[in-house]
Amino acid sequence: MGELFAPLGEQCERCSAASMGVFVSLGEQCERCSAASMGVFASLGEQCERCSFNGCAVQLGIPDIIHNHKKPISLPDLVSSLQLPPSKINALHRLMSLLTHLGFFATTKLDPNHGDQKGYVLTPTTSRFLIKSELPNLSPFVRATVDPVMVAPWQFLVDWFRGNEETTFETAHGVGIWEFYDKNSKFNNLFNEGMASDSRMMGLVIRNCEAVFGGLNSLVDVGGGTGIIAQIISEAFPSIKFIVFDLPHVVENLPEGKNLNYVEGDTFQSFPSADAIFFKCVLHNWSDEDCVKILKRCREAIQSREGGKVIIIDIVVDGDKDEHDITETKLVCDIFMMVLATGRERSEKEWEKIFLEAGFSHYKITPSFGLRSLIEVYP
Ligand SMILES: C[S@@+](CC[C@H](N)C(=O)[O-])C[C@H]1O[C@@H](n2cnc3c(N)ncnc32)[C@H](O)[C@@H]1O
Repeated sequence: MGELFAPLGEQCERCSAASMGVFVSLGEQCERCSAASMGVFASLGEQCERCSFNGCAVQLGIPDIIHNHKKPISLPDLVSSLQLPPSKINALHRLMSLLTHLGFFATTKLDPNHGDQKGYVLTPTTSRFLIKSELPNLSPFVRATVDPVMVAPWQFLVDWFRGNEETTFETAHGVGIWEFYDKNSKFNNLFNEGMASDSRMMGLVIRNCEAVFGGLNSLVDVGGGTGIIAQIISEAFPSIKFIVFDLPHVVENLPEGKNLNYVEGDTFQSFPSADAIFFKCVLHNWSDEDCVKILKRCREAIQSREGGKVIIIDIVVDGDKDEHDITETKLVCDIFMMVLATGRERSEKEWEKIFLEAGFSHYKITPSFGLRSLIEVYP
């Protein structure tokens, strides 16, 4: 029996450690780096089948309650603030014990009147980044990731391996992920909000990238979601004209800004030309063949423009240089892309192959975005 439980324990600890790592790097690098939120995605993906402790805490709103309490909170106060049935106090104690052990929360003495009694507090590098009232925070990202729609495909992995559907998501839900969002506005909003929160976090870094965006007159953010990262870059570089391009159900009715317009369409049909074509967390959704098609279109779109380039924010897997835990998280992200979409995470060699095949001549990788890198690709 002990042996049976050991992998479960290890698994849960690894999951949480991975997401903790995200927040640790986030906290440490603060203004410089944020994009590690993919690690949350990965760690939650990994725990899909077995546990969603962190997600449960976020969905219950525990980080917010602790934050609003403004001092360490006792277990009874936490139960009462969460408006849980008193019969759940023991269960909550057990959940909090695990999450505290994993570093998601911490405990400290309540106050001198309570003797040695302890209360829960947030940890500066982990749950501190999940407070809904604070911007940026990754709470929407975690909520989207632990939603049953996202979790269900993991239970169909074996069926998918034995079947013919393109993705495990399709095995679970009957349609591919983008079609599913198109038909389910509730989950479309949940997903878009999740990605937007990730973009807000990354905005802390990207708004300082003068070397990447300085000198551009126009940029198209392809698969740009609701346009949060474009808005952030546009505030930092007001002379650039931005177009956010995405499927109709994502961009319709969004308010446009002074230098920011939304265009709806399908990446595989056509997208507007500009000095730079930008992809954040997009190319990893697609197979190599699809990426080459998209990149060939990019090459046409920037061909006549001096200094034209493609800017990509995505993972670069590097098992030799990265620490073991980072590679593990990136490989989990890779399986995530296999389960949800038809894409993959790529090593530098794999990225290079598709760039060259699409007709680009050289590229530059800047690995300063937590788990993700910024890749500039030139004709
Ligand atoms: C993982 S999300 C990334 C969103 C945004 N770039 C971000 O990082 O916040 C992928 C985006 O690609 C969009 N997308 C998927 N298929 C598309 C297609 N055929 N044409 C245009 N956009 C598409 C989705 O609607 C979604 O907004």
